[in-house]
Amino acid sequence: IRQLVKQRRPLGFPPGPSPIPVIGNIMSLATEPHVFMKKQSEIHGQIFSLDLGGYSAVVLNGYDAIRECLYHQGDVFSDRPSLPLFMKMTKMGGLLNAKFGNGWIEHRQLASNSFRYFGSIQKPLDQKILEECMFFVDAIDEHKGKPFNPKHLVTNAVSNITNLIIFGERFTYDNCDFQHMIEIFSENVELAVSGWAFLYNAFPWIEYLPFGKHQKLFRNAAKVYNFLEQIIKRFSEGRVSNFPRHYIDEYLNKLDKSAGDLGTSYSRENLIYSVGELIIAGTETTTNSLRWAMLYMALYPNIQEKVHKELDSVLGSGQSPSLADKKRMPYVEAVLHEVLRFCNIVPLGIFRATTQDTLVSGYNIPKGTMVITNLYSVHFDEKYWCDPGTFSPHRFLDSNGNFVRREAFLPFSLGKRHCLGEHLARMEMFLFFTTMLQRFHLQFPPGTVPSLTPKLGMTLQPLPYSICAVRRQQ
Ligand code: HEM
Repeated sequence: IRQLVKQRRPLGFPPGPSPIPVIGNIMSLATEPHVFMKKQSEIHGQIFSLDLGGYSAVVLNGYDAIRECLYHQGDVFSDRPSLPLFMKMTKMGGLLNAKFGNGWIEHRQLASNSFRYFGSIQKPLDQKILEECMFFVDAIDEHKGKPFNPKHLVTNAVSNITNLIIFGERFTYDNCDFQHMIEIFSENVELAVSGWAFLYNAFPWIEYLPFGKHQKLFRNAAKVYNFLEQIIKRFSEGRVSNFPRHYIDEYLNKLDKSAGDLGTSYSRENLIYSVGELIIAGTETTTNSLRWAMLYMALYPNIQEKVHKELDSVLGSGQSPSLADKKRMPYVEAVLHEVLRFCNIVPLGIFRATTQDTLVSGYNIPKGTMVITNLYSVHFDEKYWCDPGTFSPHRFLDSNGNFVRREAFLPFSLGKRHCLGEHLARMEMFLFFTTMLQRFHLQFPPGTVPSLTPKLGMTLQPLPYSICAVRRQQ
């Protein structure tokens, strides 16, 4: 394993901060790695390297460098690094962590076809999301305007949209087993970029140490896979090959059809990995976005008031929001875009790797090099954003109040491995946000203001906070 990640540092490799012997720059990543990397790019340039304990990673910063690599050299920058942690978790199979090749193509195609097909089976996907929105706002209403932590409710509601596609049904908000699985899975999303994870990647023999956070990560993963295996078995009962009901049926059909084909990547194991990845990639990110959106609405009542005004003028009080209204709600669109820019849900993207030796901005980067895309540095790139440290939806509006797209906006990343769920995530954010704000006014319990410091991990989420959702008088 170690040979796979040990990298050559050829002549012309990007420079970087001085490493400490043995552990390299790992310690510098302990607090806010995305902020540390942006600062380093001001010293070493937009493309620089880090020593992660004997193996090197190249860090891309700012919109220009990221576009150059992920878009203009799309095929070169589309692999995932064969890090010991990823090898242990998914053997570089599944979808999100798959090596760039046949296995990735098969799984990505199957997933995107399933999203399209099973999403809109029986009725259009936006209508199904709206049904979930109703369960969601009714559950909020049960708190009767008293303070509550919205984390679990948002997670349950959001995960139900991917559940519809993967399992063909939603789970009720009291399904503790499913919720526990999501909880320990998202703990792993946090642990995957902890110091211990980097240490494990550099020194895989620490697997045999009886202590360390990496052990927790392995235990959680074993529990998650066990749960998924059982639930997959349950939902595949009664499968009829020509009438797939959901992603799992469709996957098993493919598996049957490819029996005996040595080149296929479909397997029971990859089914479990891909189901896990779709659940967590779809839930963690969209949930965090909505939790940040709620927090910023309560923090900036003047912005919330403008959202309410727009909702009232487009919908009135009786009509539920629908996707068709999106075009008539430029302010809501601007707010949701600013949440994605400012909050940096996936600040370092998902680690990439090069498929071949390449040359970028005069630097030599060999095949198999791990590449970190600092998406945070794109959203705080002073060349493209004025006063990036201020939360201001207006930057997405022109002088007539029309919504304007901005180039240096990459919350879903770019290129061949860009987020598979972007379309779904945008739909969910719009419908959950508008349904919730049409019914409620969000405010913090009197005398409290929650911390805006994010909890660190592969994704950034707000620390737990309490909020009051008070029914609006319309
Ligand atoms: C990948 C962001 C929602 C499924 C990614 C990546 C980012 C991202 C930054 C990394 C792409 C790269 O390698 O450069 C987000 C954000 C979301 C969101 C900010 C919500 C606001 C979703 C949803 C799903 C999803 C709803 C589907 C259920 C995936 C998958 C990948 C991915 C499968 C891996 C793609 C591949 O390796 O080919 N996402 N995502 N995401 N996302 Fe999302």
